[in-house]
Amino acid sequence: MTTQGRALWRTTPILGLTCAMAALGMLPFVPFASEPSEEAFTLEHWELDDSATRGAAVYAQYCIGCHGPTGLGNGDAAEFLDPKPRNFQSGNFKFRSTPSGELPLLADIEHVVRCGLEGSAMRRFPLLPDSQVRDVSRYVQSLVEFGLVRREVEYVMDDDDLTLAELLEGDYEELREETLVDAYEYVWRVGMDERPEVDEDGLAFGRELYEAQCAACHGATGRGEGASANALRDYKDAEIRPRDFTSGVFRAGSRAEDVFIRLKSGLNGTPMPAVSGTDEELWHLTHYILSLVVDDGGRGPHPTSCACIEEGPAR
Ligand code: HEC
Ligand code: HEC
Repeated sequence: MTTQGRALWRTTPILGLTCAMAALGMLPFVPFASEPSEEAFTLEHWELDDSATRGAAVYAQYCIGCHGPTGLGNGDAAEFLDPKPRNFQSGNFKFRSTPSGELPLLADIEHVVRCGLEGSAMRRFPLLPDSQVRDVSRYVQSLVEFGLVRREVEYVMDDDDLTLAELLEGDYEELREETLVDAYEYVWRVGMDERPEVDEDGLAFGRELYEAQCAACHGATGRGEGASANALRDYKDAEIRPRDFTSGVFRAGSRAEDVFIRLKSGLNGTPMPAVSGTDEELWHLTHYILSLVVDDGGRGPHPTSCACIEEGPAR
């Protein structure tokens, strides 16, 4: 039986009892059905380091309304938003500087908090002091790690037919360590060769690459109107549109360095792949895409163009 199946089996008689009591008008004191099952591995079982503990308070103040009480992306505002707030426990991060499919660096999360994601409800938090940005980002990272370990715990409980208490007293520490070591094995900042000059030849080459690899989604003119554009879905099976480059709104920054990193890393959980090719090719593609931005009357760099790739600790 799956863990979910087991939890259902436990709550069903209680639900039945609750309904019968409700029918008899004797309900007020038994909210059993919403209590967590004693078998569930929850955040109560998860140890936070000092930074994450401080970050949890910042999170409760600024993030919970969208990202939800345990980071599942199900805050009160979530149903009204498109794109939806990230489910941190899924571990699926779009805007990273790490290889395709990998977790973000702490510095990537901090960047999103500082700069926001233009064109989405994720606003910037420029007034949060650096220490709070660091702490809340560490808390988000802990939710990611909790999500990974929770899935392992559920798997092992189910597979070895263990109760949570048995697992916590047994191999839990080892399982947690191993899960996290595996998860971070390939998490590093992708490299970036020196940026070539923007010139006619480079732009023409970028255009060639673009037409071959990108136009099917982003369209020949870059307005996001490619032949496949209407059929795209993200990992949650929600509709997703390719970016319209002419608007100049790049969610995670519109500097050439930002766009380059998006191409090299890919957007996990979306149809936007990491682009294969040499760094030089990626630069030419970047320059070509930025050349499609329609002049906005000299408003200057987009607000999200704040430093995104400064060095930070690896985790
Ligand atoms: C008003 C709603 C809202 C609030 C408040 C909010 N977020 Fe978000 N957040 C979003 C949305 C929507 C997205 C997804 C954007 C996308 O998919 O492009 C997101 C995405 C993110 C991401 C994911 C980036 C990635 O690479 O995938 C991080 C990290 C994040 N938010 C952190 C935070 C933190 C920390 C706070 C509080 C300081 C916060 N958010 C507050 C709506 C919100
Ligand atoms: C299979 C469809 C598909 C292909 C092919 C594709 N993209 Fe995308 N691309 C998307 C989607 C969908 C998004 C929007 C993701 C989102 O909203 O989170 C996107 C987003 C982007 C972004 C926006 C990043 C940001 O910060 O907002 C850039 C830049 C980009 N693509 C460049 C390219 C380039 C260059 C190529 C070709 C080498 C390419 N894409 C090929 C689907 C595609």
